[in-house]
Amino acid sequence: MALFASRKTVVVDCDVLIVGGGFAGCGAAYESRYWGRNLKIVVAEKANIERSGAVAHGLSAINCYMGMRWNENRPEDHVRYARGDLMGLVREDLVFDNARHVDSTVHMFEEWGLPIMKDPATGRYLREGRWQIMIHGESYKPIVAEAAAKAASQVCNRIMVTHLLSDKANPNRVAGAIGFSVRDGRCYVFRAKAVIVAAGGASHIYRPRAIGEGTGRTWYAPWSSTSAYGLLIEAGAKMIQMENRIVLARFKDGYGPVGAWFLLLKSRATNAYGEDYEAARMDGIRALVGKYADVKPMPTCLRNHAMIEEMKAGRGPIYMQTQACLDTPENEEIGWEDFLDMTVGQAVVWASQNIDPKERASELITSEPYVMGSHATCSGAWASGPEDCAPADYQWGYNRMTTIEGLFGAGDTIGGSAHKFSSGSFTEGRLAGKAAVRYLMDMKGAPAVDEAEVRRLAQAIFRPLDTYRVGRNAIVAGTVAPGYLLPLHGLQRLEKLMDEYVGGYSTYYVTSRPLLERGLELLALLREDLEHLGAEDLHQLQRAWELRHRVVTAESVARHTLFREETRWPGYYYRADHPRLDDAGWHVFTASEYDARRNEWRMSKLPVHRIVA
Ligand code: FAD
Ligand code: ADX
Repeated sequence: MALFASRKTVVVDCDVLIVGGGFAGCGAAYESRYWGRNLKIVVAEKANIERSGAVAHGLSAINCYMGMRWNENRPEDHVRYARGDLMGLVREDLVFDNARHVDSTVHMFEEWGLPIMKDPATGRYLREGRWQIMIHGESYKPIVAEAAAKAASQVCNRIMVTHLLSDKANPNRVAGAIGFSVRDGRCYVFRAKAVIVAAGGASHIYRPRAIGEGTGRTWYAPWSSTSAYGLLIEAGAKMIQMENRIVLARFKDGYGPVGAWFLLLKSRATNAYGEDYEAARMDGIRALVGKYADVKPMPTCLRNHAMIEEMKAGRGPIYMQTQACLDTPENEEIGWEDFLDMTVGQAVVWASQNIDPKERASELITSEPYVMGSHATCSGAWASGPEDCAPADYQWGYNRMTTIEGLFGAGDTIGGSAHKFSSGSFTEGRLAGKAAVRYLMDMKGAPAVDEAEVRRLAQAIFRPLDTYRVGRNAIVAGTVAPGYLLPLHGLQRLEKLMDEYVGGYSTYYVTSRPLLERGLELLALLREDLEHLGAEDLHQLQRAWELRHRVVTAESVARHTLFREETRWPGYYYRADHPRLDDAGWHVFTASEYDARRNEWRMSKLPVHRIVA
């Protein structure tokens, strides 16, 4: 019996639908309006674009800026950097494409009012490091969102998109999306000629270090619920590098980022005895990864690896020697503002633990893994590359179009193009927006949604409300009842099994074939139980769908990790049964396609082409 089947439905017709109004989504809205003056461009966002996504709380740096007007870097340099950091495996065409356009994005941000710090000696942007510049970025997101809101025909805030819709005649062509309002519970059906998914990466796939009173404290935003992958995988898009999940070195308990400390303030990290553990571990690292050990700067995963080995050897805590670099009022201000603009919780940890960073060192630790495509990592969709520089087998249509016709992606959504960060994600959104408009201009007949599919999905979307309403008759305490699974309980089950079997922090990121196979068995059982999710209200209904997206993404991570029989990124994870890097067998991208009807995964290898010498 479908108690909620007769919900009000809102139908929105549009030319371009952008799912997710974070950095990439805002870039897509801005650029598709530039090229498509008369088009109906709609953004569907599960929060409110003014403060949504991974930049909701602000940032203190822009981590991708070439500085071409001052001859600081060339896009080719950035390709070499990203390639080195990812142990050889990036889509060089995509990295190059982002890099050659990213400076214009940053210049627009400044024009729109973003305060960028200047170097008083040169008048140029103040560099944090070779690729990063410092900003006063508490209001970064509202500034960027304002431009996107002005460009879009309509911004539908508080709409959680749960599924993509396919064309009635061609299941491999997108025709829109469906979801619900998390405020009034209406069902939203978007009928679109092109769709750009920019719905962000994932926290809470793995058990976070912060539990109990600290639950919800994670590095990547707790609301980043991996819809970018969940939506695409279920729709059958080809995904790559899903095993390349990132672990981050962070200030302990507050997850404060380290970049400004290492690069701008030139702070040192040491073991508990004040020793430089990275240098001491170089021989061991060379034995694992060969020539990649000598890449400069040292790849992010290898820096983690040195820290993990040191902690395993009992020479922790690892310390960031903050007191040694906060020796001027300017540095002290930069140190505090770094967190107050971006990760306020870290400043709160200092206050609550009586730590004055000018007086004493702060602990560092490696985080739980996150799944994303815009940082020092590149999980995501396999996308067509730019016309002028993508090799033939990376190019099958329009720039940033996935393997599904009319379905584009940007930011965390797109695989292989690491080191985009905020500015590069916005830039990739612009590239996808421009390409989507071109796709529309070339289009011969519009796609049509299948009304029967819409009805079926609309019922499925609201089912957890029905399940709860029936099941609550048997409540034993609070909201606990035997007839349903609550989203939080499902989430905790997912986090625990990913942590224990798929290389979370509690195993020091170690996994193996037997562990992965057992993890996949448990994931299959969890997926069965998701049919019995119960949602007390609309908020819990959102949690239910976030969980579904997380679980399918988690399965993809586990399958890719099983497929790649080597340890390519020690420090991100370890295959105990294949402990070394193996260029002869695995200098390739791993790829998967999920067939939802048959519940079958098809794994394959894709070539890594070198474009930049
Ligand atoms: P997001 O910006 O996260 O956007 C995704 C959007 O999709 C969100 O608005 C979300 O609400 C929406 N959404 C999700 N699911 C759905 C759904 N189902 N339906 C509808 N909408 C949905 N970058 C830098 O350049 N410099 C830094 O200093 C820096 N520091 C960082 C510090 C922290 C603590 C974090 C978390 C990130 C940092 N980054 C930094 C990285 C940067 O934030 C990301 O690279 C960038 O935001 C990725 O853009 P995106 O559009 O892919 O995802
Ligand atoms: S952030 O995205 O949350 O700000 P983080 O502070 O780790 O991440 O990194 C910011 C930038 O500095 C990224 O470009 C990262 O790759 C770089 N970075 C961080 N630590 C180092 C280091 N020790 N050496 C070189 N680059 C670093």
